[in-house]
Amino acid sequence: MKTKNIAVLVSGGGTNLQAIIDAHKSGKITNGNIALVLSSNPNAYALERASNNGIESCVITKGDSREAFSDAILAKLEEYDIDIIVLAGFMHILSGKIIEKYTNKILNVHPALIPSFCGEGFYGLRVHKAALEKGVKVTGATVHFVNEIADGGPIILQKAVYIEEDDTPETLQKRVMENAEWEILPRALDLLCNEKIVVENNIVKIN
Ligand code: GAR
Repeated sequence: MKTKNIAVLVSGGGTNLQAIIDAHKSGKITNGNIALVLSSNPNAYALERASNNGIESCVITKGDSREAFSDAILAKLEEYDIDIIVLAGFMHILSGKIIEKYTNKILNVHPALIPSFCGEGFYGLRVHKAALEKGVKVTGATVHFVNEIADGGPIILQKAVYIEEDDTPETLQKRVMENAEWEILPRALDLLCNEKIVVENNIVKIN
């Protein structure tokens, strides 16, 4: 089985990137190599995490055209012979071209239990604010494949997190990251690197 070249796409702090790096170092992600960190934001702390760990990185900013942005990303992915893409706090929607080329090869982590609190406009703290405003008692995180619908691709792993009475969006975000995202994202990536995920009629089966 080919060792997969992984690109991690980021826009911010990169704690999910760090979880992937740590899982890779400790042998929890096998058959994969973190070949590239691509940031849409030149000031993202995620870039420091890449350089601290000897991982190559680059910055591609969005500018005015989504098409040009996506084409530049696709060219980088090809340059690095990337097999698997991980969206780890990447705050943009990818073009159809990338999605077509990488069908069931792009993972996204979303900080809620899809189909709740997801889709366009639901990202970062906004997701947790919406969950608290709705008064749900359980939230969590989801790792899913990316398709042409925002947060609409096949669900791979989910983990629930209880909401506490005095939660703020910030405390809830931290707990969802620590207890769910940082666990299920590396786990899903290991499954994908080892070709253990099968998708039939949009439903994921894990072998
Ligand atoms: C994470 O909570 C991730 O789930 C969320 O942004 C945060 C990034 O943190 N992503 C989305 O909301 C995408 N819809 P990080 O940069 O520390 O990994």
